Amino acid sequence: MISIKSSREIGLMRETAKLASSTLVHIESFIKPGVSTEELNQICHDYILEHGAYPSPLNYNGFPKSVCTSLNEVICHGIPSKKDVLKDGDILNIDVTTYLNKFHGDTNKTFLVGNVPDEIKKLVDVTYQCMRAGINTVRPGSHIGDIGAIIQEIAHDHGYSVVEEYCGHGIGREFHEEPQVVHVGKKGTGVECKPGMTFTIEPMINLGARHCKLLNDGWTVITKDKKPSAQFEHTILVTEEGHEILTLRPEESVEFKL
Ligand code: MF3
Ligand code: CO
Ligand code: CO
Repeated sequence: MISIKSSREIGLMRETAKLASSTLVHIESFIKPGVSTEELNQICHDYILEHGAYPSPLNYNGFPKSVCTSLNEVICHGIPSKKDVLKDGDILNIDVTTYLNKFHGDTNKTFLVGNVPDEIKKLVDVTYQCMRAGINTVRPGSHIGDIGAIIQEIAHDHGYSVVEEYCGHGIGREFHEEPQVVHVGKKGTGVECKPGMTFTIEPMINLGARHCKLLNDGWTVITKDKKPSAQFEHTILVTEEGHEILTLRPEESVEFKL
């Protein structure tokens, strides 16, 4: 069942989504060589609690921390650790999900640490373009398959691959709801978008092959070839006119043209 949010519920979703996005804004200035992902986790945790919310990942299916921190070849669900200390040239994704007003808001961003080689900077840049192009397809009557189709097209045009094992998802009273939002696909296929639906779009794009491997900690997903992977995520609302990006940050433009 796909939940359609009422205007009251949409108001509550806007608040939790806004807090998730402001957490990403808040953490940015702390991201530099020498800081551990454990320290970044603690800063996000404190910020979310100070704003009267709960970090959804903490204890979610046994996840031990408050945010996911995915470094370089980590595709997603990296566990913050004292041992993971940032160094110049790294890329780090921080995935924040907040629980406020009984609703979840979910967003992530891949940050550049110091001087990142051009080849990897371009991967991050194209991954953002993939997410924005996927978002741009969303309007009443569009299909979930349209999102994956455009993401796949852009990624492949650049010689990158798209992770298929992990997807976007409906979101609201539950962290993960229907529908699944796969980041590959065919235009005109899958669930039809209707006003009041809320879901995430969160493509994971690899510099090398798409294949992944789950580490023994049961969470961390890495690329099989150990090449870097980038990701961006937003929580989207389908509106009568098209869509609204509930987790949009001030640094991002409302309009996005390729
Ligand atoms: N925030 C992730 C997502 O985008 C899910 C993290 S699940 C966790 O769906 F348990 F690892 F936190
Ligand atoms: Co998500
Ligand atoms: Co997320």
